[in-house]
Amino acid sequence: MSKFVSEREMQYQRECMQRVAAQNNGRTAFVDTYGCQQNEADSERMRGMLVEMGYILTDSSDADVVIINTCAVRENAENRVFGVIGHLVHTKRKNPSQIIILAGCMGGEASVRERIKRSYRHVDAVLDTTSFWRLPEVILGILEGDKTVAEINTVDGVVTPDNRIAEGMPVQRVVPHKAWISVMYGCNNFCTYCIVPYLRGRERSRRSEDIVREIREVVEDGCKDITLLGQNVNSYGKDSDDETDFAGLLEMAAHVDGEFLIRFMTSHPKDTTIRLLDTMAAYPRIARHLHLPVQSGSDRILKLMNRRYTAENYLELIRYARKVMPDIVLTSDIIVGFPGETEEDFRQTLDLVAEVEYDSLFTFIYSKREGTPAAKMEDPASPEEKSERFNRLIELQNTISMKKHSEYIGKTVTTLIDGEGKRGQYNLTARTNGGRLVHLKGDKSLIGKYMPVRITEATTWSLVGELALNDQK
Ligand code: 5AD
Ligand code: SF4
Repeated sequence: MSKFVSEREMQYQRECMQRVAAQNNGRTAFVDTYGCQQNEADSERMRGMLVEMGYILTDSSDADVVIINTCAVRENAENRVFGVIGHLVHTKRKNPSQIIILAGCMGGEASVRERIKRSYRHVDAVLDTTSFWRLPEVILGILEGDKTVAEINTVDGVVTPDNRIAEGMPVQRVVPHKAWISVMYGCNNFCTYCIVPYLRGRERSRRSEDIVREIREVVEDGCKDITLLGQNVNSYGKDSDDETDFAGLLEMAAHVDGEFLIRFMTSHPKDTTIRLLDTMAAYPRIARHLHLPVQSGSDRILKLMNRRYTAENYLELIRYARKVMPDIVLTSDIIVGFPGETEEDFRQTLDLVAEVEYDSLFTFIYSKREGTPAAKMEDPASPEEKSERFNRLIELQNTISMKKHSEYIGKTVTTLIDGEGKRGQYNLTARTNGGRLVHLKGDKSLIGKYMPVRITEATTWSLVGELALNDQK
């Protein structure tokens, strides 16, 4: 079977969009997004399809179509989503023709589908991340009276990932100067704590020419900040006949004409190569930011997690990255309280964090996901112990973030003015090349422009600055 959804199938979706549009007179739609950038990217595509179907986008759960695009990585996020869906009973009572769709990673979980069918009967359809390109067909089906929960892509309640790539969906970007572009979908790594490979299917890479064409299009549309996305971007191309690997793809992207920066996430340390770091260093167009999730500083835990690198392998990469890009911004993900993590294992994580000195960290307390290998492992540490470790890690990182941010004070950096801010007198936000958040004052007309900003203050989470129009960049 081809890796791509056929043109005929996509044409059918376009016909469905036209048929919905023909009977639509000003109905509204809301896509509520949880989780990672991959979901943001998928939501932009769902919004694109909704607009083609004649819907007016809103951010109210009273809309005629409400799509909840969900994350399944941690259990408490799932519980929140069930709360949100439960609440929609009231909006549907007010507007019985309201269409409610659960999409995203949770849509791929058999247990979630069962629970929705059993207890959340006001939900009209459940889609997963591999099948949401069929949204037009699903909406048309519901409008035409097929009121069953649409079980796309399931056999006996178990998801059979579509494992294909749907090219050519329309896109509606939230912010015109920023674009998320997926380069690949799925994950083959099966880290033992992670549910993603079970929900997003096997790795499949888009064609490099399709990606580069999309980059050109968004740059022509005025986009200034492009993030290439994938669960593990360093595996890009391994499933293709095409010779292009991720470093090669970045190089192609860096040669597109225009004023923009390219970022990417997420990289897996086991697949991060010297060639990738050299490519980043060679092109100013590639942002000086590397998000390299380490998860733990203990080799014993890394092994149990099936991460396939050691703390020392990881540190070697970091040292090389800093050697070729001294100004690189480094961020990471860390899980505290993986089953069997001892105080000694945790200390090794603290040591690694102290040695790397990340600019910022995403920290998570381990969440047990049924169906993953880690869910069967002995987990003797108490929740109190875990949260105590978690707090110690945050405390350490806060000190480091504050120190790193303070180093910016007095410097003038080029930033992309990003949007309106809400921090006291500072009405704008901006991002540095490395992705650090800056609060500043200025005219709204600057949004979407690159501007020099002199940094005047630092906090743990962000920087404060002022426009430095007379300074050198
Ligand atoms: N529990 C806690 N954190 C998790 N992550 C993935 N699965 C789990 C889990 N079961 C974290 C990892 C990953 C990030 C996106 O989410 O750190 O890098
Ligand atoms: Fe999950 Fe590991 Fe794949 Fe990341 S690389 S999505 S943590 S299995």
